Amino acid sequence: MGKGMISETARYALENPSSIREIMSVVTDFKKHPEKYPRPLIYLGGGWPQDPPPPILRTAAKEIIEDDHTWIESSRYGTTRGQPDFIAGIINYENFIFGRKIYEEEVIVGSGSTELTAAFMLTILDPGSEVILTCPGYLNYPRQIQTETLLRCKIKRWTVLKNHTFNPDFDELQDLISDKTRMLILCTPGNPDGQVYTDDMLNAINDIAEEKNIWVMIDVAYRAFIYEDYPKYFSRERRENEIWMCTLSKEFRVPGWRMAYALANEELIKAVETVEQARILCPNRMAQEILTRVLQDNTRLKTVKEYYETGKEKYKKVAQYTAEELRNNIPDLGILEPKGGFYVFFDASKYEKDSKRLCSDLLGEYQVALAPGVDFGMEGWIRLSFAPIVEEPETLKEGLNRMKEYFSKKK
Ligand SMILES: Cc1ncc(COP(=O)(O)O)c(C=O)c1O
Repeated sequence: MGKGMISETARYALENPSSIREIMSVVTDFKKHPEKYPRPLIYLGGGWPQDPPPPILRTAAKEIIEDDHTWIESSRYGTTRGQPDFIAGIINYENFIFGRKIYEEEVIVGSGSTELTAAFMLTILDPGSEVILTCPGYLNYPRQIQTETLLRCKIKRWTVLKNHTFNPDFDELQDLISDKTRMLILCTPGNPDGQVYTDDMLNAINDIAEEKNIWVMIDVAYRAFIYEDYPKYFSRERRENEIWMCTLSKEFRVPGWRMAYALANEELIKAVETVEQARILCPNRMAQEILTRVLQDNTRLKTVKEYYETGKEKYKKVAQYTAEELRNNIPDLGILEPKGGFYVFFDASKYEKDSKRLCSDLLGEYQVALAPGVDFGMEGWIRLSFAPIVEEPETLKEGLNRMKEYFSKKK
C-alpha cells in the first residue's frame, strides 16, 4: 500500500495505538500460546468486569428469541434515536434506580458510549474548536477527538490531580476557556483515578460552562460503583449545558452488547440524531428489545437494583483491599484512595519514571499486565484494574505478590 493511500488520521491512529488494545493482543496471544510464557498471565489492564450480567437479562433474551414475532421484529432495523419503547424503559430505569426524572426528547441511544461520544464530537466541534479534557482522564477521548475531527481540534488539559490529591481548581478551568472552546469532558467516578466529583464541584463547573456557553459532557460509566454516598447530581434534573453519557457496559456487565444512551438538550439531541443517520442508521436493535423487557418492568428492575447493591459492595471491598495491600507492601508508591469504579491509580515514579517501560517490564518479567499512566496524561503513574479478576481473590493476591517482588528488586 502506498503512503498516500490512507489518510492523515489513519496514520495518526497507527502511530498512536491504544495501549490497552495492545495489552489485549498479549492476552489473546497468551490464550493461544500459554506455553510461551513462564507463568499464567495476570491481567489487570482493561476495565472489563468479570462477573456475569444480571440473570434477568438472560430470561429476557430467551423470551425475545423464543417468540416468533419478537425474534423477527428485533432483527429488523430500528429508529436512529433508539426504539421508543426502549427510551420509555430508560426513563423508568433512571427514575427507579437513580431517582432521576428525565424526558423523552432529551434521550438518544447509541452503540456504546464510545460511538455515541464520537457522534457528539462530530455534532459539536468544528475545525479549530477546542476541547478541555481533565488530567488525568480517560485515554480514549483524545484519540477520539483526533480521529473524529481529522486532527483539526485542539485539546487542552485541566489538571485535577495535584500532589496526590483530587483538587480541581476552577480558576484554572476559567483560564483554559477561550472563545474557541466548545466542550469539557469529565468522568465521575473517574477512569483512571477512581475519584468522584462532589456536588459543589459539578455546580461550579456548570456555572462556568453556562456563563461561557460550553457543553459539559459527564461520563458516568462507573456510576453503579460508587463506594460511599452518592452525590445529588446523579438524581437531580439535568442542567442546561450538561450531556450525561450513560453506558450499560459496566453497570449491566454487557460491554460486548454496545449499548449506551445520552441525555442532553433537545435541539442538540436532534442534531446528533441527524448525524447518526449517516453514521450508524440505528443502534443494536436486539439488545434494545432485550433490555426494554427489563427496564420497563419494576419487578425485574428490583432484582437489578439488588444486583447493583451487591456488586458495589464486592467492587468496593476489592478496591480497598488492593489499595491497602499496595500501601502496606510496596513502599514509596503514591496511592490515590479509590472512591468508586474499577481502578487503583498510583504514582510509581520513585521506582521508574517511564510508565510504559514499567508496564512492559512487569509484563515481560512477571506476566502481570497493568496500564501506563502516561496514556491517561500522568507519566510515572500506573493504573491497576481489578475488574477482570474481581471474583478471583487468589489471582489478585498472586498478582500483588508478583508486583511486590518486581518493585523490591527494582529498589
Ligand atoms: C470512562 C469510560 N468511558 C467510556 C468507556 C467505553 O464505554 P462503552 O463500552 O460504552 O463504549 C470506558 C471503557 O472502559 C470508560 O472507561
